[in-house]
Amino acid sequence: MLRPVLQYPDPRLAQKSAEVTEINDEIRALAQDMLDTLKAIGGVGIAAPQIGIFKRVIILDLSQELKDPDAPQEFKALVNPRVTVLDPALHAENEGCLSVPDYRAMVKRPRRVALDALDLYGNPVHLEGEGYYGAAMQHETDHLDGRLFIDHLSYLKRSLYDKKVRKAR
Ligand code: NI
Repeated sequence: MLRPVLQYPDPRLAQKSAEVTEINDEIRALAQDMLDTLKAIGGVGIAAPQIGIFKRVIILDLSQELKDPDAPQEFKALVNPRVTVLDPALHAENEGCLSVPDYRAMVKRPRRVALDALDLYGNPVHLEGEGYYGAAMQHETDHLDGRLFIDHLSYLKRSLYDKKVRKAR
């Protein structure tokens, strides 16, 4: 089922999400709604708080990892994801977000990370990635702690963006 996506500056986007203690039908239905919503809008990932459910669930498009333009999209739901930095050297990617419409910016993050999580049946999942894909893992996990990619921008860039948002409202 398609769900409305919260848009910045909705204060709920800054809320911290709770650990999932039991992976049940409710969580699987949540992941399905997130997938439907992500596919309808298009994007590399989505986090549950973006549809107003404050549980630690994200969906990532793993076809980004394959770097094969002909690879079918393969979306993976990840429960209670934890990111570990494998290479702290900073690397910038051009990021956007379903909750931050009509805006993209270069964001510097650790270059290579690992992500450990559970799938929708409680099996452990281990992913490693860098570049765009590594940035996506960090971007989606950030949402669960109430952080948006614009929170990583310089004070000046962020102020300019906030001014633009205020004007548009
Ligand atoms: Ni996002």
